[in-house]
Amino acid sequence: MNLEDRGREYREYIEGYLKDFYSEWHGEPQKVLFDAMEYSLMAGGKRLRPILAFEFCRMCGGDWKNAAPFAAAIEMIHTYSLIHDDLPAMDNDDFRRGRPTNHKVYGEAMAILAGDALLTDAFLVASQAKLSAPWNMGEAISLLAECAGSLGMVGGQVLDILSEERELTEQEVLDIQKRKTGCLISAACALGAMAGGATQEQFDAACQFAAGLGLAFQIRDDMLDVIGTQEEMGKGVGTDAAKNTFVRLYGLEKCEELVQKYTDYALDALNAFGDIAYMRKLALSLTERRV
Ligand code: IPE
Ligand code: IPE
Ligand code: MG
Ligand code: MG
Ligand code: MG
Repeated sequence: MNLEDRGREYREYIEGYLKDFYSEWHGEPQKVLFDAMEYSLMAGGKRLRPILAFEFCRMCGGDWKNAAPFAAAIEMIHTYSLIHDDLPAMDNDDFRRGRPTNHKVYGEAMAILAGDALLTDAFLVASQAKLSAPWNMGEAISLLAECAGSLGMVGGQVLDILSEERELTEQEVLDIQKRKTGCLISAACALGAMAGGATQEQFDAACQFAAGLGLAFQIRDDMLDVIGTQEEMGKGVGTDAAKNTFVRLYGLEKCEELVQKYTDYALDALNAFGDIAYMRKLALSLTERRV
């Protein structure tokens, strides 16, 4: 299979899986909640986190579809984080995934509740995964909760908001990026590896890869907030100007070097696996992404 086909297959599979999960509930009276959730969940997006989960599962020797419950759960948590990130009380953005933001269409109350429901339903989907030794569901669910919660993504969002009030050190900015974006990327790689029956060495390598990729990904995101266009990215640009980003600390040129540096760190970890052509190509393509 060529590399483009693999990415497309993963994307189509996760979109079908997410749609099927919610299709059973269409007769429920809280229809507007499902409409609001699907509005953001099915609006496209790169589906990077599901792709990472599927590919790590495959690279560890598993059937990649085994990772689907985790891939879906992480995409649901990621989508909730975007809905809440865009709220007036947070980044106050009007445009996301090529559409008006959730609260612009459904109102703030429904956007908050759609996020709450996506977060909670994510654990329902994740619990449908089947794991074999040496991994178990308790470990998987606690990893997911830790990455999403107050120590992970939510904690990072808090530090990100507080960052508007003062200048931060490089270490502080790194810590924010690791939490707000790195943690869910780590969950995708780690849970994909677990679903593939990873050895401890492969699991550790998946975590190293994710640590590098997560940083490179958020630094590139911050660059695109300056150099990107709304047409390409499907979201507003210039909206993080008040935030303490790496672009603000170092400027665009140094950021380009940092994206390369953290991507190289990620790529080093791939030596623990056999067939790495797709993952290598994916990581490298993200360094120059415009979307
Ligand atoms: C955007 O994530 C928010 C960050 C964590 C940087 P993505 O760039 O993966 O957004 P989608 O899923 O493609 O819309
Ligand atoms: C988002 O960071 C991180 C999340 C946890 C959602 P940003 O606020 O930079 O993401 P965008 O640029 O709005 O997608
Ligand atoms: Mg934000
Ligand atoms: Mg934002
Ligand atoms: Mg951003």
